[in-house]
Order: sequence, then C-alpha cells, then structure tokens
Amino acid sequence: MTAGQGIFISFEGIDGAGKSSHVDTLAQALRDQGRSVTLTREPGGTALAEKLRALVLNDPMDAMTEALLVFAARRDHLRVCIEPALARGEVVLCDRFTDATFAYQGGGRGFDLAMLSFLEQKVQAVQGPEGDFVRNPDLTVWFDLAPEVAAERLSQARTPDRFEAQPVTFFRRVAAGYAQRLAADPGRFARIEANLPRDAVWRAVRQAVQARGWLA
Ligand code: TYD
Repeated sequence: MTAGQGIFISFEGIDGAGKSSHVDTLAQALRDQGRSVTLTREPGGTALAEKLRALVLNDPMDAMTEALLVFAARRDHLRVCIEPALARGEVVLCDRFTDATFAYQGGGRGFDLAMLSFLEQKVQAVQGPEGDFVRNPDLTVWFDLAPEVAAERLSQARTPDRFEAQPVTFFRRVAAGYAQRLAADPGRFARIEANLPRDAVWRAVRQAVQARGWLA
C-alpha cells in the first residue's frame, strides 16, 4: 500500500467457490467501521468494461481475443474507477482482477503466459507521486475449492455462461493457475479454505483483513 492512499483488495477463485457474498459482507463490515468502500468487479466496473464483460461471457471467441478484451476492460476500470477511488483513500474491493486472467486465459485456455505478463505490465502502469508503477492488489483473497465440489455447487445454479459451462478439467487448470500465482507472490495472497461452512469461511476472510490492520 502506498502511504496516504487507499487499500486495494481483490477476490479470486474458480466459479462456484462462493466468494461474492463474502465480498458484500466485508464491504459492510468496513463501512460499519467508517471506511468508504468501492465495491466493484472484473470484467466490468465501468460502463465500457461492463459492455466488454457481456461480450466475454457470452460471445464465442478465441483465447487471445478473450485476453485482450479482459485487459481492455481492466485498463478502463483502473483509469475510471479504481485509481480515483484509491486516490480518495477508499478501500476498493474487486471481485476478480488480473490473477483471474492468468488462471482462466493462461491456465484454463492455455494462453501464452509471457504475453499476459507483458499486458499486465502495460495495462496496469499508472502514475504515482514518485513516477509510474504497476498497480496490483495490496491483498488477494483466494477462495480455494476443489473443482469437483465447485462443479457440484454450480450444477444447481442458473444458466451457465461461457466459463461456467466448462468441464471440471478446465477448472483444474484454472485452480492450478491460481496456485502458480500464489507461489510467485505469496505475501500478496490469503488462501481461504472454501470447503467449510459459510461462517467459518467468513471468519477466515475477516481474519485475513484484520491481520493487515485494515479491520478492527
Ligand atoms: P464471475 O466473477 O464468476 O461473476 P458471476 O458470479 O456473476 O458469474 O464471472 C466472471 C467470469 O469471467 C468468470 O467465469 C471468470 C471469467 N474471467 C476471465 O476469464 N478472465 C478474467 O480476467 C476475469 C476478470 C474473469
């Protein structure tokens, strides 16, 4: 975290891992303690990025197109939503960020990781008081759930999008992609055992944020 700036927290996990409700609960807990919170998601979070989200989730395309569209959405999201919120000193809670691209497009689709790294460096380059830097979450909460369990949960859910419709083998590669991202930058991650009752998962999420001194 840069001094005098907000806090940027992302939430990750395969489809069905159950992160979204905990993001809402954390937003409420932070607001109850007087923090201003921007609650957002990827792909999406701005008018343009939400249009790109609809394309990525529903229209047939190859892995490179997918990667370019999620990074295009991310660029707009950073410029229009995330950076201004951080500059106002807010806590930004973002349902998915770049780790999802490495996990889904890199792991799941097998797309070139070097190109994803290149895009990450370019797209997330932002201006700070001491020059340009690459914006990354201060903390990434990863809901780790076995793909078989997630598939079981998803089978009871609504009409699947292009990702939710993928077989369990796809989600094994996505999960491995997340594990690789954690291994490369362990200090940024809190791994949450997501195969526990809801309350226990929430306590683990809260603990991860408390451990960093951002929640009493
Ligand atoms: P998700 O966040 O699970 O939202 P919902 O709960 O409304 O379904 O859906 C976003 C989907 O987009 C998810 O399947 C993962 C995928 N995705 C990518 O493939 N790459 C990315 O970079 C991002 C941010 C998401």
